[in-house]
Amino acid sequence: MWKFPKPIKHAIPEARWPSVAEATRALLFSPIKLGPLTLASRTWVPAMVPWRATEDGFVTQANLDWYRRFAAGRPAALVVEATGVRDIPSGPLLRIGHDRFIPGLQKLVETVREASQGRTKLLIQIIDFLSVRRRPEKAKYFERFLRVTRRHRAVLSEVSGDPRWNEADELEVRSFLARSAEEVIEQVLDEGELEALRFGYRESVNDTDLPHIKDLPRVLPGIFADAARRAREAGFDGVELHYAHAYTMASFLSARNKRTDGYGGARNERVRLPLEVYRAVREGVGHDYTVGVRFLADEVIEGGNRIDDAIYFGVEFARAGMDFLSISKGGKFEDAQQPKVGQAVYPYTGKSGYECMPTTLSDEVGPFGRTVPLVAKIKSAVNAAGFGTPVVATGGISTFAQAEEILQRGQADIIGFARQALADPDWFLKVKLGRGYEVRRCTYTNYCEALDQAHKQVTCKLWDRVQLDEPGLVLADDGRRRLIPPNWKK
Ligand SMILES: Cc1cc2nc3c(=O)[nH]c(=O)nc-3n(C[C@H](O)[C@H](O)[C@H](O)COP(=O)(O)O)c2cc1C
Ligand code: SF4
Repeated sequence: MWKFPKPIKHAIPEARWPSVAEATRALLFSPIKLGPLTLASRTWVPAMVPWRATEDGFVTQANLDWYRRFAAGRPAALVVEATGVRDIPSGPLLRIGHDRFIPGLQKLVETVREASQGRTKLLIQIIDFLSVRRRPEKAKYFERFLRVTRRHRAVLSEVSGDPRWNEADELEVRSFLARSAEEVIEQVLDEGELEALRFGYRESVNDTDLPHIKDLPRVLPGIFADAARRAREAGFDGVELHYAHAYTMASFLSARNKRTDGYGGARNERVRLPLEVYRAVREGVGHDYTVGVRFLADEVIEGGNRIDDAIYFGVEFARAGMDFLSISKGGKFEDAQQPKVGQAVYPYTGKSGYECMPTTLSDEVGPFGRTVPLVAKIKSAVNAAGFGTPVVATGGISTFAQAEEILQRGQADIIGFARQALADPDWFLKVKLGRGYEVRRCTYTNYCEALDQAHKQVTCKLWDRVQLDEPGLVLADDGRRRLIPPNWKK
């Protein structure tokens, strides 16, 4: 986990909880339209991957239990975890890349509807990602993965002053590099090769020499449109296009997208594929269906997007007809920590990862509502351009006062509670019933995020070891943790 050089420990904000009357009057508990959909309040649980799907990407009983538990707390909107749009193996992450996934997803929709008595609207976040390999052993990298080219031989000749390297046998080049010091390797390998050696090979949208990467603009609109059509068929109330963090669509939006095929470079070219994907989705699901987007207010990486880019994209997404804009921050591969040999790089381990899921070990600003000023800038530009598209703010928001103030100040239209909802899914019901003092407060120290990083079933430290003797309780694979919080006795 990345840390500030001189971190300041922040206490979680004191909470003064509203009475029933105060909650009833609050903007937070007033309805809002999300395109054709009406949310009963402005409360929102953003996507969180719990690592509970089957290895083949199907919905499990553990997924149903997880979302049922969130729905019991009655947030107005619940976004199902990032769900893969392709029909390719991707570990225990949900998938929606084929019609065979529809029945399981349908069950998920029914479960949430039943548990919330139809009061929680269910959206699904749909995602595409590129291939990421594990960090190889140095010997194996030079033996198998490096594609030896004329360039490597030429650099070796130059570095060593020995022209014979220009004609050297490939095996000789490989075994020499495998034995070489880091300074030599740094001179011989290019940036991408060095990254593949040190972090594991990772595809990028810039790799247009690979036919399937070159072809992304041709294939992705159809793949996303099919996935959204399945979401509608399964009964979801809407879809969220995942254009945030470290994944394909965010990489198209990124200022680090240098494609020269009309889909990279200037902002209007970087946003072209994201808009084409949206239009294909819209055509597939129709105008009477909610389609929105999650994207970044700031990528928080060198050479990446800043707030000006996000403002431009927000206005373009609103102009195109998106029904909501959900704003996140950071979460990139480019500044991630080096993984151990045999492990894959994880995009939430650098500064950008901190900004995505900030903890109480922070700078002077602290983790609470840290992204709100940027969200407010996006919202104000979208509104000034003549669009009323609702904007969702998330990140370190856990008290009623924080949420209500953000709404009252007009900084956002909807409030996302991710880790606070994981700590206590009943937050919404408790606060509305004037029993906010019973809320189990998130401590923002990221035990849950560490589990996510290890691809372990995600739980919260505040409840995963309590009442383990409950009859019929299902435990995590490690046999030590409950998978969902105990029920709230009203
Ligand atoms: C365990 C875990 C899994 C997450 N998975 C996703 C995801 O699938 N998609 C996404 O857009 N964000 C994901 N996030 C980020 C959250 O949606 C949210 O933006 C972030 O936690 C900051 O909000 P918070 O301070 O309210 O937790 C995840 C966060 C956590 C803790
Ligand atoms: S594990 Fe920690 S950071 Fe995560 S939800 Fe629970 S209290 Fe919050």
